[in-house]
Amino acid sequence: MRTRMTATRRTAVLAAGLGLTMVLAACGQNAAAPSGGGATSAAPAAGGVKVGVILPETQSSARWEGFDKPLLTAAMQAEGLDADIQNAQGDEQKFSTLADGMISSGVKVLVIASITSESGAAVAAKAKAQGIPTIDYDRLSLGGTSDYYVSFDNEKVGALQGQGMADALKGKQGAQVIEIEGAPTDNNATLFHNGQLSVLQPLYDSGALKLVASQAIPNWDNQVGGTTFEQLLTANGGKVDGVVAANDGLAGAVITVLTKYGLNGQVPVTGQDATPDGLQAILRGDQYMTVYKPIKQEADAAAKLTAALAKGDTAAADALATGSVDDTKGNRQVKSVLLTPQSITKDSVKTVVDEGQVTASEICVGNLQATCQQLGINAG
Ligand code: GAL
Repeated sequence: MRTRMTATRRTAVLAAGLGLTMVLAACGQNAAAPSGGGATSAAPAAGGVKVGVILPETQSSARWEGFDKPLLTAAMQAEGLDADIQNAQGDEQKFSTLADGMISSGVKVLVIASITSESGAAVAAKAKAQGIPTIDYDRLSLGGTSDYYVSFDNEKVGALQGQGMADALKGKQGAQVIEIEGAPTDNNATLFHNGQLSVLQPLYDSGALKLVASQAIPNWDNQVGGTTFEQLLTANGGKVDGVVAANDGLAGAVITVLTKYGLNGQVPVTGQDATPDGLQAILRGDQYMTVYKPIKQEADAAAKLTAALAKGDTAAADALATGSVDDTKGNRQVKSVLLTPQSITKDSVKTVVDEGQVTASEICVGNLQATCQQLGINAG
């Protein structure tokens, strides 16, 4: 996938003739009228319009129910939308059934964070057939037909993870690294890995670091991630110097295994999502870093895009989409909002608390209270 910044230009053209005044949205490049009807001069207010949101699962990351659901609820309400937000619990049949229910209930826009590209693309096609525009939220459905994509720069997420591992192992010539990656069915996992390798591959090639093994974990299943890591560690004679874990859930499973062998705190581990568990592990010194993705920004962007599409206001929707990404499977450009991730180590955990994504009381627990005090993280 290549991310290309395209300035989407919108020109509203006022034309008058025969006493009629019409407003035509002249599309700039990459514009596509949403299947939910084009822009009209008398677009109804989005207030109270019913929209649907389907989140993928819960077990892969605490983010979906802990961050995305409450923040999407608030953001959709702020846009005056009546949002039905459900979680497919990692079950693709349930994902499809939830979509069917939302479509038949008359949602005007469907927002989906797909479990796999295939089931995401199938849902987008069903919605399109009913004239309902769809937005890929956080995960792009390769080969899909969604009108827009809202996420973070996911290759940048991976690059931050790779840089974290490089920093943690700096000067340790030939340090041995195991990579525990996300679901091969999640396009984001591929992007994270690509980003990691943009930093680590040159270090593997030069011999500065040694890649012992790299394993993708189906469904981001944290338990499978832990047992897989233990097998790889054992196969390497119990030796590892650093672990690239693609999110905090997998990092936690890896740290449980390291702790079993008395290696926790000596072997840097990366993560992603700045979950309460991940931040606690960083404060304890068991995890080296995580990637903070301000989900409020992602939820707000998705809600604004949803409100524009609910009104059939293509011009406003396109103006929100500041870039586009290549869907290499569908061979198409997808108008996108790509947000900026941040690397968080022990010294910057305070940032995540100050921005409100987690509270001090969620992470400054037990003997971590003293650490929080030293870092200026106020109990709250
Ligand atoms: C990814 C998401 C990450 C990660 C993972 C597990 O698609 O972008 O935040 O946590 O799913 O849910």
